[in-house]
Amino acid sequence: MQPIQDMALKLKNIIKTQKFDEHMDCKIQGEVKHLADAFNQTLAYLRQSVVKRDQLILEIANRVKIEQKLKQYQNQLEKLVNERTLALEKTNQKLITEIEERKVAEHARRELSRKLLLAYEDERKRLARELHDGIGPSLLCIKLELQQLQVIKQVNLQPVIGHIANTVDDLRAMTKGLRPAFCEGLPLTDMLMEYNHYFESISGMSIQCTIQLPCILPDNVEEHLFRIYQEALNNCSKHAKSSEIYISLSHCGQRLLMTIRDNGEGIEEYRLKEVQGLGMFTMKERAALLGGEFSFTSQPTIGSTIRVEIPLPC
Ligand SMILES: Nc1ncnc2c1ncn2[C@@H]1O[C@H](COP(=O)(O)OP(=O)(O)O)[C@@H](O)[C@H]1O
Ligand SMILES: [Mg+2]
Repeated sequence: MQPIQDMALKLKNIIKTQKFDEHMDCKIQGEVKHLADAFNQTLAYLRQSVVKRDQLILEIANRVKIEQKLKQYQNQLEKLVNERTLALEKTNQKLITEIEERKVAEHARRELSRKLLLAYEDERKRLARELHDGIGPSLLCIKLELQQLQVIKQVNLQPVIGHIANTVDDLRAMTKGLRPAFCEGLPLTDMLMEYNHYFESISGMSIQCTIQLPCILPDNVEEHLFRIYQEALNNCSKHAKSSEIYISLSHCGQRLLMTIRDNGEGIEEYRLKEVQGLGMFTMKERAALLGGEFSFTSQPTIGSTIRVEIPLPC
């Protein structure tokens, strides 16, 4: 009986102190020994459970730590994302404002350009009128009076009369360039055909022209197209030194296309960027004012082509 009591006491103590590494010694064989073995097995099981429990506690503690760290990182990340989003929104807003400002500035620049070209055109018309209706007739009167004087006074005034006649011719040519008299009231097709004849006579170049227009164009469109054509022709004689010019005015759907091609000297591709003279700029501006596009392409020894494409306004 005594060994069983000892074992019970020891077991109580073990449970109280939680020291499961104790061992029940029993020298007596038989049932008591069986009991001691069972206790020892139970103790061994409890030892393992305690080890597992401790590992689990450690693992949970680690997980909690990791989760806390993760939460911390997540908070930092959220803060960072919020800061970045705010910064991006600010930059975005700034960009939108900048784009708007640029649009307004570009609109104002276009408007100024339009007004300048209009003023330029009016001034050309005024000058042409003044030369044609004022100075021209006055010179002709002087010429006639000199011719009369020559007869009355029997003197040779032919050299002066010749000078005046030449000046009248120069004046006519100048007036045609500024605002060809025949242009007043003429549709674009007729204006181009007339001007082609005139240009062929002064430049010695030959012009081949094909025009297919579906309707009469508004005045401002005709005026811009005519001035582009005029500048392109001037460039052909000034820079291209070509013998032929091919002009085409056609339409495709709701687009109007004008091309002016020459067979002149052309210009190297790398120099195309440098081609930024006032003539080119004004042609581009005129095309843009009509809501269209302008391009200049060129190949040395082959020639150059100007292409203007605008929405058909009729
Ligand atoms: N048809 C052409 N053939 C060859 N080069 C050309 C032609 N048209 C223009 N260019 C080149 O483009 C340049 C710019 O032309 P433009 O703007 O009309 O100015 P400008 O006629 O006053 O020189 C010219 O100086 C010339 O080098
Ligand atoms: Mg020019």
